[in-house]
Amino acid sequence: MAETKIGIIGGSGLYKMDALKEVEEVQIDTPFGLPSDALILGKLDGTQVTFLARHGRNHTLLPTELPFRANIYAMKKLGVDYIISASAVGSLKEEVKPLDMVVPDQFIDRTRNRVSTFFGEGIVAHITFGDPVCQHLAKIVSDSITASNLADVTLHSGGTYVCMEGPAFSTKAESNLYRSWGATVIGMTNLQEAKLAREAEIAYATMALVTDYDCWHPDHDSVTVEMVVANLQRNAVNAQKVITEAVRRLSEEAPISEAHSALKYAILTSLDKVP
Ligand code: ADE
Repeated sequence: MAETKIGIIGGSGLYKMDALKEVEEVQIDTPFGLPSDALILGKLDGTQVTFLARHGRNHTLLPTELPFRANIYAMKKLGVDYIISASAVGSLKEEVKPLDMVVPDQFIDRTRNRVSTFFGEGIVAHITFGDPVCQHLAKIVSDSITASNLADVTLHSGGTYVCMEGPAFSTKAESNLYRSWGATVIGMTNLQEAKLAREAEIAYATMALVTDYDCWHPDHDSVTVEMVVANLQRNAVNAQKVITEAVRRLSEEAPISEAHSALKYAILTSLDKVP
């Protein structure tokens, strides 16, 4: 099986990468069960990558049902050091329009019922998470969006991603509350991935693809699945162009990320005493 340093997690609408060559599917079992789907190994413009459809290739998993730990564990087992996540989001700001792309640098956690750590059961660790995405990888993603020259797409580098539980979309009161907090976009999946990737010492960054104005905007209808899917089909083509460019840049110069040594000072348990 080919070793791969670059992982791609495709969200709603991005279930496969058409440009992948020499494709091999691997089913990886983990201590946390099976990942969302088989991992797809392949070459993107000559560079080995691993692709995973976050919700499964037929979109069968709710955000709450995602095997986040298995997904990140499986990537780590394949040697992944960098994960680029592509995710559909709603906009919480007027200037962030549907089809725009946001590369968030902060998260707010509004999830419940999700295990967001590999630790516990005898091993205590607290990772630093003040800057939850890898700034070097985020810059590569932002630069790749700019270099891709996408029609009708404005890039917003930085911003706060609210991660909600779902599956129902927000109420107007919730949406306006997040706006009052200054948040930029809302989605249902990326916070757990960012935390677990950091614990696994994998650099992580998100390309957030805006599909709607959630439900707060007086001049736009409240978000529906139909709206999300329509914009996603356009977003998915753009996302693949950006990912291909980001992978090319990463293959030329892979940055050393703080994430790669995240556990250096994080573990409190005396591991020499753990049986
Ligand atoms: N994904 C796409 N649009 C969304 C929204 N408005 N809220 C939460 N997740 C989303």
